[in-house]
Amino acid sequence: MAKKPKFQRPRGMHDVLPEEQKYYQRIYDIVSNIADFYEFGKIDTPIVEEIGLFSKGIGLATDIVKKQMYSLKTRGADSLALRPEWTAPVVRAYIENGMRNLPQPLKLWYFGPCYRYERPQSDRYRQFWQFGFEVFGEQNPVIDAQIIQIFYNILQELKLKNLIVEVNSIGDSNCRPYYKKLLANYFRSREVSLCVDCKRRLRENVLRVLDCKEEKCQPIKAEAPQILDHLCDECHEHFKEVLEFLDEIEIPYNLNPYLVRGLDYYTKTVFEIFAAEGNNALAGGGRYDKLVKVLGGRETPACGAAAGIERIISLMKSQEVKFPKEPETQIFLAQLGSLAKRKSLKLLEDFRKAKIRVAESFGRDSLKAQLNRADKIKAKYTLILGQKEALEGIIIIRDMQSGKQEIVALDKVIQKMKKRLKK
Ligand code: HAM
Repeated sequence: MAKKPKFQRPRGMHDVLPEEQKYYQRIYDIVSNIADFYEFGKIDTPIVEEIGLFSKGIGLATDIVKKQMYSLKTRGADSLALRPEWTAPVVRAYIENGMRNLPQPLKLWYFGPCYRYERPQSDRYRQFWQFGFEVFGEQNPVIDAQIIQIFYNILQELKLKNLIVEVNSIGDSNCRPYYKKLLANYFRSREVSLCVDCKRRLRENVLRVLDCKEEKCQPIKAEAPQILDHLCDECHEHFKEVLEFLDEIEIPYNLNPYLVRGLDYYTKTVFEIFAAEGNNALAGGGRYDKLVKVLGGRETPACGAAAGIERIISLMKSQEVKFPKEPETQIFLAQLGSLAKRKSLKLLEDFRKAKIRVAESFGRDSLKAQLNRADKIKAKYTLILGQKEALEGIIIIRDMQSGKQEIVALDKVIQKMKKRLKK
């Protein structure tokens, strides 16, 4: 059995090796293109924040704050936490940088790692990457629909299939307290039949009981009062309009009265996107009209969402998503002798500046080994620079298919190759 290495990566975290990078790059390219189109500006925030930002922003009773924070004390005795999500930090940055004074709605997007001390399992990590979009200063329901559309479009552009959008409204401070009371009364009268977790949720945040996946809680949930029947007029109208916009832009969705989300800052619309074959959400978000004020800013409506990049990659793999063809390297540069090697280094630079891809194997001295490599990468042409050629300022172009060779001046080879590649 292979010996365990002395050091291993932290549990629930992983290395992104070169062969995995293309997934991140592909997602980044599509997300940044869409962000550009909808005029979102990119924001980066520190990986750590004051811990209070998260307890206040996400909610003291949430799993994230209670159990999943990576917290640390600095030498200066500041209490910081690795960000478990981006919304609270982005709101902090919005307030701190006076972005309210910029033309509104202000639109921001991000792409980077988050940290949650969760029990690692398939598609659940302790370090995972999110990309997200947040819009500040607009209460119109068209924004809610646009955020859903953006995430749906990104997943579609990634060629993912069988997407399911689930939406719900969880009301606001007008109607939710009354609904929560109603719900608490209902579940309290059936408390004995609830699972242990739900008994706790009933005391901490009764809405989370609706989120329970335990078999025994399902029939009780099914009979519970539904929030959509208890929204105030404003929330009702807002949600109706969101759904009308979604119909208009032909985004298929399911109404899910049990969708409540695991973070406390939401008001009105909430949504999640899944793949039919998986239980874990690919993306989730909604409106959070109170958060800016809660975190010390002026009352500012806001709406946004984030997606989990590892989950998207895992689906891209299982659905065998195809990538656009990468440009092939058609030229191999072989060298023989020390003068030729030196000249080759310079020539390679000239090719790079001319934006022509060239492969090489400068570490090898044997021509045979280099030609083997040229065969392996299926190079169409091999350029051969030997000692004699280097002295005379010439180079051999060998057509690998026909075996035909041509000798050209070293300072003309880029021009020549440009012409050949165009053919
Ligand atoms: P969230 O639902 O906690 O929302 O996370 C968003 C997405 O991040 C999830 O749908 C999932 O794909 C991914 N994710 C979460 N936890 C993990 C994990 N442990 N391992 C792998 N992937 C994970 C938020 O974070 C909100 N800030 C979204 C938001 C933005 N709401 C408004 N604006």
